Amino acid sequence: MSDRAARVIVMTGATSGIGAQALERLAREPGNRMLLGARGTGRAVPAGVQTVPLDLASLTSVREFAQDVVRNLARARIDVLVLNAAVQARHLDGRTADGFESTFGVNHLAHYLLVRLLLPYLSDGGRIVITTSDTHDPAIIPFGPRHLDPAALAHPAERGAVAAGMRAYAASKLCNLLTARSLAARDEVRARRIQVVAYNPGLTGGTNLMQLSTRAQRAASAVIRPALTIIGRFRPAFAMGTPERAGEVLAQLATGEIAPPPESVYVSLVRGEVTFPEPSALARDDATRDDLWRRSQELVGPLAP
Ligand SMILES: NC(=O)c1ccc[n+]([C@@H]2O[C@H](COP(=O)([O-])OP(=O)(O)OC[C@H]3O[C@@H](n4cnc5c(N)ncnc54)[C@H](OP(=O)(O)O)[C@@H]3O)[C@@H](O)[C@H]2O)c1
Repeated sequence: MSDRAARVIVMTGATSGIGAQALERLAREPGNRMLLGARGTGRAVPAGVQTVPLDLASLTSVREFAQDVVRNLARARIDVLVLNAAVQARHLDGRTADGFESTFGVNHLAHYLLVRLLLPYLSDGGRIVITTSDTHDPAIIPFGPRHLDPAALAHPAERGAVAAGMRAYAASKLCNLLTARSLAARDEVRARRIQVVAYNPGLTGGTNLMQLSTRAQRAASAVIRPALTIIGRFRPAFAMGTPERAGEVLAQLATGEIAPPPESVYVSLVRGEVTFPEPSALARDDATRDDLWRRSQELVGPLAP
């Protein structure tokens, strides 16, 4: 740890769902100093948690957040960086402040920039946890990506409908996994013994991800849930877990209580059990990994101010 008094944990996506459950646990543990990036002001967070403004739909906000975090650290270092925030849109209409398709912009590009900006401030022996999803794998979920074109994801030619939104989400989660693999392969990360984890919490009910805002959407969800209980008996990826369990494991990954085997990054929660499977073939492809890293760098622009 960088500071004997506290383990500094910087986190995104902890204002609802899985992240909020993880935050509650981490904030309860004595010795953890939590810095949380969140939209809006006055968000309800556990006592002692410091909230720093962050809107991942704006790369300017990401840069300002990184600067605020560094200012707040003073001479301390970040021991754990948890990148958990995400959106799942129903279509491809949304654009970030920088003009990127929202799912790709928020879930991948913003986190890519954030980790690049904060990496120099991580302590040696520190940890980066990025939340991905098994939707990245077409062997598990049919709309999982079979190829990756970062330029098309950033600026899709068509607006598309529900299936396009789900495909964009799955692709963004592949990007999260590939980014974790890129980080783990970097000389600097290896030399500084920084551990990198890509975490799939598995299908989890009761979070805000699906944005069930209308009565019709909630009614459809009420019908789908029992069906998933049956399907989940035969297809483990469709067994619905709870935010409490998914958040508990996220917290354990953040503290290092659970870690993937050496030379691996992927941790997957299946029916409430922690497993260490191989990610998809595309997620294991080094050319795809390196191409995404390079193109993401081009899209976010210079890292220095
Ligand atoms: N639920 C599942 O079935 C499932 C399955 C596999 C993987 N995952 C992954 O698990 C993680 C957590 O998802 P969840 O289900 O807990 O979803 P959730 O309840 O919707 O939580 C998403 C979090 O991301 C934050 N966020 C979204 N857009 C943001 C933005 N522009 N700027 C800053 N923060 C933003 C949200 O903040 P606000 O409170 O401001 O909205 C919230 O804290 C995600 O990475 C998701 O991809 C979920």
